[in-house]
Amino acid sequence: MSERVFINDVGPRDGLQNQPRILQPAQRLGLIESLLDAGLKHIEAGAFVSPKAVPAMAGAAELFAALPDRDDVTFTALIPNMKGYELATAAGARSVCMVLYASEGMAQANVRMSRAEADAAGAAIVERARQEGVRVTSTVSVAFECPFDGPADPGLVADMVARFADLGSDEVCVADTIGAANPVQVRRLMGALVDAHGAERLSCHFHDTRAMGVANVFAAVEAGIRKFDASIGRLGGCPFAPGASGNVATEDVNMMLSQAGFDTGIDARKLQVAARVAEELTGNAPGGRARAWLERNLEVAA
Ligand code: COA
Ligand code: ZN
Repeated sequence: MSERVFINDVGPRDGLQNQPRILQPAQRLGLIESLLDAGLKHIEAGAFVSPKAVPAMAGAAELFAALPDRDDVTFTALIPNMKGYELATAAGARSVCMVLYASEGMAQANVRMSRAEADAAGAAIVERARQEGVRVTSTVSVAFECPFDGPADPGLVADMVARFADLGSDEVCVADTIGAANPVQVRRLMGALVDAHGAERLSCHFHDTRAMGVANVFAAVEAGIRKFDASIGRLGGCPFAPGASGNVATEDVNMMLSQAGFDTGIDARKLQVAARVAEELTGNAPGGRARAWLERNLEVAA
């Protein structure tokens, strides 16, 4: 049997948060349903953040209340602080993703906290989530490069991963928020992290700004990582990280992994249909790098 690799589609959150066209919760739910139809079992469905800071994520409570009751699917809520944790869990979220920062500049730009303040908020959230039986991912953002402060310190990233793994995070995600990493760096960092902590609780999040997203996923696979964030239709980009473009496309990651002999549990054809849904809704989804080939090969009607 082929080995399983998990893809967490962050399109409904990372993908939509920076779109010029703001979608209503019911439209975002439509995108999520198309992902479920394609077999995705992990979906970052929205963010409990200030609607003034990120208008595209407004109505997250309404969206979470409307999510289908699926025991086999993990719907995650992104949160920036304890208030986000409280709002998310009150809306029924059973899985949260808290963001940490490998730079001062990004912490200030994103949440107006220092790096240390965000770490402290994260630690308090992990503790509370464990008490309340809520699944928690700690994401180390700008883990390779920060748009304000430049290259990240791999030693600092390793310390943050160790701390949040020790605190009992269910998952620690290493994120290339602006898509600046290269595969050699990824293999080195993720190799060291897998040696230190095992691969079970680690995951990676890549953006495809420089067309190295799939290469970076593969470098992490070679290091032992078996869980990745990706975004349908290559939607994405952080409003507070200048120069960040879309996440690596779920379609590209799925194609590469499937062709390389891994089992993703995803229906490639239905995934292309979901990419069409993303494009229709936003008018702004570039699609995977392999879009033309995939559409022809899978005979997705125009
Ligand atoms: N969800 C919703 N509202 C929130 C919130 C949350 N998680 N955290 C704080 N707020 C509200 C406060 O209640 C306050 O509301 P008010 O103006 O009606 O009184 C307002 O936001 C400002 O709160 P304050 O604590 O002064 O925060 P701030 O203005 O420094 O903003 C954040 C900090 C974290 C709320 C804001 O920067 C944010 O939401 N950032 C998210 C960024 C993001 O999503 N980035 C992309 C994903 S990584
Ligand atoms: Zn991202």
